[in-house]
Amino acid sequence: MTKTFIQDLVNDMTLDEKLAQLTQLGPHYWGLDDTVDLTGPFKELNIKPQVMESIGSVLNGIGARNVIEQQTRHLQTSRQKIPLLFMADVIHGYRTILPIPLAMGSSFDLEACERFAEIAAKESAAAGIHVTFSPMTDLVRDPRWGRVMETSGEDPYLNARVTKSMVRGYQGKDLKEKGRIAACVKHFAGYGAPEGGREYNTVDMSSGVLREFYLPAYKAAVDAGVAMVMAAFNTIDRIPASGNSELLRGILREEWGFNGVTIADFNSVNELIPHGAAIDGREAAEKSLAAGLDIEMMSTHYLNHGAALVEEGKLDIALIDEAVIRVLELKDALGLFDNPFKDADPLVDEAPKPSAEHLQAARELGASSVVLLKNDNDALPLKRGMKIGLAGPFATSIHVLGGWAGTEKDPAVSLYTGISQKTSAENIFTAMTGELGSMLEGVFDVEDEIEDAYQALKDCDVILAAVGENQQDTGEGGSKSNLRLSANQEKLIWRLKDTGKKVVTIVFSGRPLELKPVLDASDALLQAWFLGTESGNSLADVLFGDYNPSGRLSMSFPYSVGQIPVYYNAYQTGRPYDPMYPNVRYVTRYLDCPNDPLFCFGYGLSYSKFAYNSFNVEAADRVVASIEVENTSDIAGKETVQLYIHDVSASVVRPVKELKGFQQITLAPHEKQVVSFEITREMLMFYGKDDQLVFEPGEYDIMIGRNSGDHCTQRIWIG
Ligand code: IFM
Repeated sequence: MTKTFIQDLVNDMTLDEKLAQLTQLGPHYWGLDDTVDLTGPFKELNIKPQVMESIGSVLNGIGARNVIEQQTRHLQTSRQKIPLLFMADVIHGYRTILPIPLAMGSSFDLEACERFAEIAAKESAAAGIHVTFSPMTDLVRDPRWGRVMETSGEDPYLNARVTKSMVRGYQGKDLKEKGRIAACVKHFAGYGAPEGGREYNTVDMSSGVLREFYLPAYKAAVDAGVAMVMAAFNTIDRIPASGNSELLRGILREEWGFNGVTIADFNSVNELIPHGAAIDGREAAEKSLAAGLDIEMMSTHYLNHGAALVEEGKLDIALIDEAVIRVLELKDALGLFDNPFKDADPLVDEAPKPSAEHLQAARELGASSVVLLKNDNDALPLKRGMKIGLAGPFATSIHVLGGWAGTEKDPAVSLYTGISQKTSAENIFTAMTGELGSMLEGVFDVEDEIEDAYQALKDCDVILAAVGENQQDTGEGGSKSNLRLSANQEKLIWRLKDTGKKVVTIVFSGRPLELKPVLDASDALLQAWFLGTESGNSLADVLFGDYNPSGRLSMSFPYSVGQIPVYYNAYQTGRPYDPMYPNVRYVTRYLDCPNDPLFCFGYGLSYSKFAYNSFNVEAADRVVASIEVENTSDIAGKETVQLYIHDVSASVVRPVKELKGFQQITLAPHEKQVVSFEITREMLMFYGKDDQLVFEPGEYDIMIGRNSGDHCTQRIWIG
């Protein structure tokens, strides 16, 4: 129910003021300092100067002092004194930079994901931010796309659960609470599926695929009470999302009951024109407003054409009023009419250091996100007192915060610094730790330096090769067609292997890279992602066994780039490949590469060893699957027990397996635990031919195991 004072405000507004309320601009339009990168065109605006006094929200205007100053000036000059909303891209932490979201997804730890968002909210709120453009919950299958770093991965179930935890972490129970900010889930819908992994490219998929894989996580955000939804740049069924009423009104509002605010992506209303979906700004404004897109970001077609559209009867004023009411309701929910500065606090925001509590949490979140991919001959954990060789472009680098690292006020802890907290400096020998550039790009020949590194490290007990991709190659506009480490890095790893010592390859990246070329040269392989401010400490905790690795991949790592997209929950085909008959030609397969990824979804090792026994599925009144998990090692550890199902035959083709549940258990050495999952009808429902959710009685494969490629299976009939 709209509060009377909001209705009164709307009644008192001119049409221009309403349209200004529906416009978001960056601080540079007010001539103010802007420290955040522009991710689209900066255009001179063709608007009346007094309109600037009624603009509704600010994009990426950050810093408590800036926000207080701009809000104060705004409230002095604007006629109605409606506070500005400050929105920003706080993607993985504000001051304390946390692991990238793909890493958080790989923790499979929902409490950790909530904590992640809580910390980000607290620091952002102190910096004057009211809304974060997070979580980005786009499902991804193509690591060539740079933005895979910003999502929790390839699985609809995991993405939905992570999204829910993050929305809760940002928003809490009441947006007015100190330290809470509104979340804006993005990019609705399907932005994670650009063809060829190329940024801003066409997205095209069947409505079944959209509903089954891509929509569930956005829906989870709506169910969790997310305050805002951002429309995507891409098309859905050939209509740009920012002007797509079937999506923004039909699915989002009518079907899912979302009554919060929708916002365009940067310039995406204007981009209806280059898409060829609008002839000019007037038509773009008409289509987006009619579709139910409330706020236009960084273009001004609503402002420039909205009034004429209403006067000519092309647009019902009621649509504009509804949108304005939603924006004002959000301002009210955040308490801005009572306190327009909310939690902005220069003393906290400008503190010389991030809070010790947040740094400690970042360290733990980082450690829980690292994925151990290989560990032959117990190469890890390292022992204190060993002579450790450390080489590669990320050995001493502090450029490991990851893309979208906000203010970058504080440098990250390097791997070298982290390790040097664990063992004395005399035990650490470094070589080829130099500049990222020549090693990452691989354009300069560094044979001599590689030879020097070999000589310098050959007498160490173990050698760590810290390799990866430049953090700038990830995030928006970060698409790549080659996912291999640079040639120089591959050469370095192989030459270090010639020492005969154990080589531990540590990969810093914002995406799954193609690691097959260095797999055999590495005794151990650790996926380090970009872990943020505490990166080096988190990694050192894992390397020395102070944290037993528990991360599990939330995105498949391809065997080679030619396999992409490769993901675990693909649909069944009529000619499946059977590994028992590897040479049969006329089945779905590659001649030169396996079908399976190098490392599959859900995969990750621990220093503990877990055995799975006594798998049992009981189908009486309830269907319950259980398995006994035993830690057969002498090291306590955390295991992620995963439940998958497969519908054997249905009215539409079903995925070969789908994650339906997981439980994280911590087992002491030699401890056993029975883990049970109830399989409900709801878990077995899917979108049938008419895009309706259905349950079909029949045979199902129930699978429990350690990852999507290693599990026990039992077939049962469920009616
Ligand atoms: O929030 C982002 C979005 O993810 C990509 N384009 C720019 C927006 C605002 O900065």
